[in-house]
Amino acid sequence: MIRITLRYIAVILLIGFFSACNKDKGPYSITQELDVNAIDSVSYVVHVQPIFDANCTNCHNASHSKLDLQSAVSYNQLLYTGFSASYVNVSNPPQSKLYLHLTGVLAIMPPSGAIQQSEQDLILKWIEQDALDN
Ligand code: HEC
Repeated sequence: MIRITLRYIAVILLIGFFSACNKDKGPYSITQELDVNAIDSVSYVVHVQPIFDANCTNCHNASHSKLDLQSAVSYNQLLYTGFSASYVNVSNPPQSKLYLHLTGVLAIMPPSGAIQQSEQDLILKWIEQDALDN
């Protein structure tokens, strides 16, 4: 009887463990394809910065000579203070330097290979929506 009870407890703990993991995923998981059309208003903080955190900041941090993409400074770096700022062009979004690097028209970023198409589309949509610090 005790054994069976212990087994039940173990199963319940395991279920609890796995469902707890699923709750940690935030607004979306970076590894899943995003549905860009489902995001009406792109947020720099919620949508764009996590893409930089996951793919760029291991190189583009305070020690990078041209562009720091860490959350505290990335927006200002992209629009005003980075070496080749502005990296966004709200009057012609597909010609933004940031986007040209993501799509490989300029040196592909990250150098190991492009981020997902949906992530590129999301950043383009952010620029099309006036590249707000939102
Ligand atoms: C493995 C390191 C590495 C990763 C990861 C990386 N980059 Fe870069 N990036 C570089 C290097 C090196 C350069 C070239 C710097 C130079 O020209 O002196 C560069 C240049 C750039 C430039 C042009 C800067 C300029 O002023 O000319 C942009 C924009 C850029 N990266 C964006 C990104 C973005 C966005 C990501 C993530 C999606 C990313 N990079 C990921 C190493 C990296």
